[in-house]
Amino acid sequence: MIRVLTRAPSNIALVKYMGKDDARANLPANGSLSMTLDGLCTVAEVEWNPGAELSFVWKPVADPALESDKLTAFPTARVPLLNQAAVDRMSRHLMRVIESAPALMAGFGLEARSVVGTVVFRAANTFPASSGIASSASSFAALTLAMLTICAEDAKAFHARFDASSELKQAVARLSRQGSGSSCRSFDGPFVSWRGETTASVPSKMPELTDLVLLVGTAPKSVSSSEAHLRVKTSPLWQGRVERANRRSDDLKRHLSRGDFESIARLAWDEMWEMHSLFHTCAEPFTYWEPGSVTILKWLVQRLKDRWDAIVTMDAGPNVHILVRSEDAANWKTELAHHFGGMPLLSDTQGAGASILEIS
Ligand code: DP6
Repeated sequence: MIRVLTRAPSNIALVKYMGKDDARANLPANGSLSMTLDGLCTVAEVEWNPGAELSFVWKPVADPALESDKLTAFPTARVPLLNQAAVDRMSRHLMRVIESAPALMAGFGLEARSVVGTVVFRAANTFPASSGIASSASSFAALTLAMLTICAEDAKAFHARFDASSELKQAVARLSRQGSGSSCRSFDGPFVSWRGETTASVPSKMPELTDLVLLVGTAPKSVSSSEAHLRVKTSPLWQGRVERANRRSDDLKRHLSRGDFESIARLAWDEMWEMHSLFHTCAEPFTYWEPGSVTILKWLVQRLKDRWDAIVTMDAGPNVHILVRSEDAANWKTELAHHFGGMPLLSDTQGAGASILEIS
C-alpha cells in the first residue's frame, strides 16, 4: 500500500480561459494569465492497494471515523460533494494519469511502475464549494500530482525532482490540464501564463498581493464552466475575442514585469467585463451575477475612479475578487466590512503552486 498527500491552491485568472480550441484536450482558444493563491486550496490523498484489477473509489472524508485523519487536520477543510458524474470524470482522469505516467517519467529519466488494484482518492477544500473559487483547478491539480507520484517507481525521487524542476512541473501541469483546463495554472506561482500546451511562470515586479473575495452567493452554478466554454462562441462579441485576449495576455506580462499596478487593474477590469458580456450575449444568454455582484461593482466604479489601487475580477460565479497590495489589505478589509458588512469575505495571499506533502 502506498499513500500520497498533496496540496494544490486555486488560481484566479486576470486574463480568462474562456472558449476552447479542442474540448477533449482542454486546449484553450486564447492565452490566459492568473495569480496562484495560497491557503484557498485542495488537500488530496490517493491511496493505492495493489490487486488484480484496477478500480477507483471516491471516499468522502466527512466520516466521523476519519476525524483523526490528516485530511481533516486542515482546520476549515470541507469535503466537496461530488455527484456520480464528477466522480466518474475524476476517475477517468486518474486513469489517464496512470496511462500517461510511463512516457512522462521516461522524459525525466524516471521509471513508472504498473499501477493495478484499488485506487482510493479523497479531497477536501479550504473554501466552500461553488464560491467562485475554482475548485476544479485545485482539485484536479492536487489529485493529478498525488496519482502521478504513486505511479513513480521511486516516489521519493519523483518528489525531489518535482520540487527542483520547473520542466517537470510543466509536464504535470499539461497532464492536469486534460482533466480541467485552469488546473494547469496551479503548479507554479505567483503569476502563471498558459497558451496552447504551455504554461510558464511570469516574472513580476509587483508587491505581494492579497485576494479579498466578497462571497455574494455560494449556490451551485446554473451553467457549468464547461458549458460556458461552448456557449460563448455563439456571442456576436466572440469575433476578435481570441486576438484581444492574447494581446491582453501579452500586455499583462509587460505590466507585471514593470510592476505597473494601475495598468494591470484597468486591464483586469476590461477583461472581467468582456468575459461576462460574452455570457450575457450568447445565443442562450445566462448570467452568474446576483444583485449583490452589481451593487459591489457599482460601488467599485466610484471607489476606483481616482485611484486604481485594486485589481477587480470575477470568475464563473457571482463573487467579486478584489486583489490589493498585502500592505493595504487591512484597510481594504475595514472599508469592505463598512460597506458590505453582512457579506462573508475570504482573504488569501499569492502562492507558489502545488506541492507533495507526504508519501507513506
Ligand atoms: C471562468 O478550467 O473550469 O474560471 O477545462 O472545462 O474544466 P474546464 O474549464 P475550467 O474553466 C475555468 C474558466 C474560468 C476562467 C479561468 O480560470 O481562466
